[in-house]
Amino acid sequence: MCPHLHHAQAHVAPDLESAFTVDSSRVTFGVGALREVGHRVAGHLPDGGRVALFTDVRLRDTEWYHDALTALRAHNLEVVVFDGVLVEPTDVSMGEGVAFARDTRADAFVSLGGGSVIDTAKLANLLATHPGELLDYVNAPLGGARPVPGPLKPHVACPTTSGTGSEVTGIAIFDLLSAHAKTGVSSPMLRPTEAVVDPRTTATLPAHVVASSGLDVLCHAVESLTARPFTSRPAPAPATSRPASQGANPWSDLGARQAIELIGRYLRRAVADGRDEEARHQMMWAATLAGIAFGNAGVHVPHAMAYAVAGRVRDYRPAGYPQDAPLVPHGYAVAVNAPAAFRALAPTAPFRHLEAARLLGGDTAGVGPTESGEVLAETMARLMRDIGAPNGIGGVGYTADDVPDLVKGAAPQRRLLDNAPSPVHEAELDAIFRDALRCW
Ligand SMILES: NC(=O)c1ccc[n+]([C@@H]2O[C@H](COP(=O)([O-])OP(=O)(O)OC[C@H]3O[C@@H](n4cnc5c(N)ncnc54)[C@H](O)[C@@H]3O)[C@@H](O)[C@H]2O)c1
Ligand SMILES: [Fe+2]
Repeated sequence: MCPHLHHAQAHVAPDLESAFTVDSSRVTFGVGALREVGHRVAGHLPDGGRVALFTDVRLRDTEWYHDALTALRAHNLEVVVFDGVLVEPTDVSMGEGVAFARDTRADAFVSLGGGSVIDTAKLANLLATHPGELLDYVNAPLGGARPVPGPLKPHVACPTTSGTGSEVTGIAIFDLLSAHAKTGVSSPMLRPTEAVVDPRTTATLPAHVVASSGLDVLCHAVESLTARPFTSRPAPAPATSRPASQGANPWSDLGARQAIELIGRYLRRAVADGRDEEARHQMMWAATLAGIAFGNAGVHVPHAMAYAVAGRVRDYRPAGYPQDAPLVPHGYAVAVNAPAAFRALAPTAPFRHLEAARLLGGDTAGVGPTESGEVLAETMARLMRDIGAPNGIGGVGYTADDVPDLVKGAAPQRRLLDNAPSPVHEAELDAIFRDALRCW
């Protein structure tokens, strides 16, 4: 038994969790993988059929769209295209995807795009396969928290950002306009059947999208590594009701550690030069690894805070993203909270925070465990500054006066907050948001 597993299991008490489950989509990763998407979909539709290809207007103009369409048609599949995905989707934009899926009665789904596209395809698939409306399935307290009743139609997800990991997770996120809050649906049934990850697609990504989605990856990895250990959760009854947010476990640790190291080595280069294939491809691999890690460990405080930061946006319009409406892209919405959150949480898990700082390239020589939060916060802040990320929640338009409202937005995210290494309630959130006004 590996030393880590032995260490993790040495603390198991009888009423606490003693096992973990590894779930992922089948993943095909590599240069040119997009060209096999037709073959992969046909494997799920032996008698042929109709495929709904979800994408957005920007991607529809790229060679990646052409590759996917050609590959699908080469397998005699009928393709119907929905390109109405909104970047950072809302309940309204999701509704359009759902209506399309219901009208066209597709037999399978392919999503080609970033997290916005993949998440829209997940919910369109859900509501074209099972009865009910979007809010019925949304997490409580905003929605009805109805469990997804059974499997969905085959969905092959092809990510084109080095980011969310949505292609391997059972989560779909959107902005519920009436509540000014991000929310989502979470179920293992939403996990795409297959992921086809072609790192070539990163060649056309604008630098700001590489920066923001790369910071999302970093937070997936560091939050997975520092999440409460899986052995600290109460044992589920029945055992098969184990949640997706299991906490840090030996499997998620593997992907998280490797992803952090790759980000430390390649994210600056990937942002600086779109022709740096090595850096961009390695970031895609880091995104896949971190997606599998957080899909099995769960994220925690920076993501919980991001729901409020993104949902209450006033007039922030970052370069590289569509300019028609203000938005805080998901990666930036998470990262602006991260240095402050890790600084506050490190005392409960000092060695893991120190390890994250070292893997990211921070200078940890001679640093003791009591300084681990500070050194991780500084290492992250330096990276954020170097790649042009906003400087804290102040950098996306918030002031100290907004903190009580931001706390109100983040505090209900109990599923995420309860996955933190130590308890986080309104008082802790208030302090972390104040510290997050600036990162440097
Ligand atoms: N389901 C999950 O597990 C999960 C996890 C994290 C985030 N998310 C969600 O994902 C969304 C963010 O997704 P994202 O960061 O991947 O970005 P995105 O899908 O919002 O895309 C950002 C921008 O980049 C463009 N783009 C994407 N790929 C491109 C390419 N290869 N070439 C040129 N332009 C390209 C898009 O058209 C868009 O303008 C948010 O809604 C977030 O909440 C979901
Ligand atoms: Fe994320």
